[in-house]
Amino acid sequence: MLLIQTREQLNGYLSTLKTNESLGLIPTMGALHIGHAALVSRAIQENHYVVVSIFVNPTQFNNTDDLEKYPQSLEADMKVLESISEDIVVFAPSIEEMYSKEIKSINYDFGGLEHVMEGAFRAGHFNGVGTIVESLLTLIKPDKAYFGEKDFQQLQIIRKLTEIRKIPVEIIGCPIVREANGLAFSSRNERLSKKMRNEAAFIYKTLISAKRLFGTKSAMHVKDWVVKQFKKHPELELEYIEITQAKTLKPIIKKYKNKKYRAFIAVYAEGVRLIDNIALN
Ligand code: PAF
Repeated sequence: MLLIQTREQLNGYLSTLKTNESLGLIPTMGALHIGHAALVSRAIQENHYVVVSIFVNPTQFNNTDDLEKYPQSLEADMKVLESISEDIVVFAPSIEEMYSKEIKSINYDFGGLEHVMEGAFRAGHFNGVGTIVESLLTLIKPDKAYFGEKDFQQLQIIRKLTEIRKIPVEIIGCPIVREANGLAFSSRNERLSKKMRNEAAFIYKTLISAKRLFGTKSAMHVKDWVVKQFKKHPELELEYIEITQAKTLKPIIKKYKNKKYRAFIAVYAEGVRLIDNIALN
């Protein structure tokens, strides 16, 4: 498997590709799990060439503790990818390689998508994500790029990014992959105790019940109900529950039959921040 660590090596590799064959990119921050593997497998089915980028992007962490504790394991990640296909190319640059002069993000206007939920609770997060994703898309020039729906707000923001920056790439959102108990796969799950990893399944169970309730009740009623459920589980500290329109991420005011809605949750468990979401209709 080819490991590329510099822009120069990357350009060398890209110059060998046939222009009429498609390139798929899966941007990651490593600590690869089954959720990432699903993105990679889909990209392999849909493209001639597949590049997985592994880069823990400092500008998208609003909390230095979270950055320091973020699992980094290039060797283990390479093994995971190798077990999927030897033909995958890994791009794992250093911080200096990606941010040559200053470790700083660009200020974007994502039309309001960036001000709610993750954006409201993680100052500067989406500017950091936008900066690194724009760099990766511009450097690698994939035909398709794959992102998980666990970070649904990120996915919508990246779609917006490619629209405002006119980046010619197809952004593909892939369904959330869950552990057997329903907990969404996340690199942060590794930081949970075994007991908490089981208890955190409550997040998805609550989302499923919220979906059922949304069929007959107002969004306000559903949100209040979710808050009450988490009060009964103080080991899971609810940061927010939001119900929004799926595309605009605008909070729902009135339910319309022809619009798609989604519920979003952020929770702290043993100091680890977990997010999840579900399509409501
Ligand atoms: O979802 C992630 O892992 C990151 O936010 C991404 C898209 C790789 C950008 O650093």
